[in-house]
Amino acid sequence: MANSLVEETKRIVAQFDYTDDDVNKGVREFLRQMNEGLRKDGTSISQIPTYVTGVPNGTEKGLYMAVDLGGTNFRVCSVHLNGDTTFDLTYSKVAIPKELMVAKTSKELFGFLAKQIELFLKTHHEEHFEAHVRRRKSSKTAEGYEDENVFQLGFTFSFPVQQFGINKGSLIRWTKGFDIPDTVGKDVCALLQDEIDLLHLPVKVAALVNDTVGTLMARSYASPGKTATLIGAIFGTGTNGAYVEKITNLQKSVDGEYDKSTGEMVINTEWGSFDNQLNVLPNTPYDAKLDQDSVNPGIQIFEKRVSGMFLGEIVRLAVVSLYEKPNVSLFKSLSSNSNDEQLPLFQQWGLDSSLMSIAAADTTPELSTLRQELDSQLQIRSASVEDARAFKDIAYAVGRRAARLSAVALGGIVIQSGRLKETKDEPVDIGADGSLVEHYPLFRDMIYEALRSIEGIGAEGAERIRIGIARDGSGVGAALIALVAAGMEKKGI
Ligand code: BG6
Ligand code: GLC
Repeated sequence: MANSLVEETKRIVAQFDYTDDDVNKGVREFLRQMNEGLRKDGTSISQIPTYVTGVPNGTEKGLYMAVDLGGTNFRVCSVHLNGDTTFDLTYSKVAIPKELMVAKTSKELFGFLAKQIELFLKTHHEEHFEAHVRRRKSSKTAEGYEDENVFQLGFTFSFPVQQFGINKGSLIRWTKGFDIPDTVGKDVCALLQDEIDLLHLPVKVAALVNDTVGTLMARSYASPGKTATLIGAIFGTGTNGAYVEKITNLQKSVDGEYDKSTGEMVINTEWGSFDNQLNVLPNTPYDAKLDQDSVNPGIQIFEKRVSGMFLGEIVRLAVVSLYEKPNVSLFKSLSSNSNDEQLPLFQQWGLDSSLMSIAAADTTPELSTLRQELDSQLQIRSASVEDARAFKDIAYAVGRRAARLSAVALGGIVIQSGRLKETKDEPVDIGADGSLVEHYPLFRDMIYEALRSIEGIGAEGAERIRIGIARDGSGVGAALIALVAAGMEKKGI
């Protein structure tokens, strides 16, 4: 590498350092903001009560339906819980058309979801679909229909929702690039049920589920050794976590009825908005620019440093700043071409975070895979080994900081729960899902490295923290919550 390129790359990489001291400072502030959210509404960590008051133990049984909006894909599934920690899942998925993410009215989006449910029933559950045809003739809605033919559906809606019942809740704000103003403040379950009823489908929206809560339930159902899981976490397009909290710590008022017998409730933290006020979070010029140019400046500040939707953009902004430095020779082939401004590298969101995973996974001296991808994804022809090395170093620094920030959130919750102290050697179980934790090489290892440095956890504590991938939170988890909801309805809660 030419010296100035090496030096400037190092300077940028250093801007993403997030030291052990920073991690500890972050954890202290995370705990403070978590507890503030348990006391009052309108705080940056929302701490939303979910009305789910127990986690499963693997013996649950039955056939349920689930839909999932808020990750990379919209998914419709049916889940058969076998009652022995196993399940059979049938699902279909489609990418959400971009125009629906910013549709003019809620109806366009929720009508699309109901249509996908109809299609799924037709393809995979003919008997229910025929019931639907009969029902259409008599124009019944879910209420006026024989129970055994109605699918109880868990609606995984992965956005901040103020819940006021197990299947009721109004949207607080959109995140992850969605922006349909007329949905904010509305009950999203009712919006979906209305569209389902217009199609006369035999489906009842029985439970509203955040993906983190679904992940927590799915992991607990299948958890090795039947250890009750503490946290469900998503590190994907967005990031968030849900955990089991003691009801006595939940001091703000909770509307509506719920089962108090377990003494616990699952809380959806919405940690994506941790420290919107930037008391402790790092704020490089690239973070600041990303936020300023986003659809929701000042909001989801933690998420904008951690999750897959944003990491690629941070890398892009940092690489562009390196490219623009006088005396630095990066991507030489570009400077001769007058159409360069059109290249993805110079477009907002032009760099997909998956390229970071490719960069991290390429450990060959020639970095040939990465150079090939720089060409095919960013149209940077003939990138040199030095170019690719600079790119790789910056991408790694951004990814590593994201993992260490993730440890702040996970470590904060582990400390809040007191579980490391409650027993001497029981594992503290965490279920995690999402494209980042699944595909970014060594993401979990980097989280563990930071967990070991946290006061109150240390190497011994980190050893007991078990982070397992919990796939299909949207399916199995939502089905489990639909089951809980059906049980509550029977008990008249
Ligand atoms: C999926 C879950 O596996 O992961 C979804 O079923 C969740 O509920 C998603 O939203 C998160 O990952 P990504 O990368 O799609 O945002
Ligand atoms: C965003 C949403 C949150 C969701 C997370 C992961 O942060 O606000 O509800 O859980 O993304 O999908």
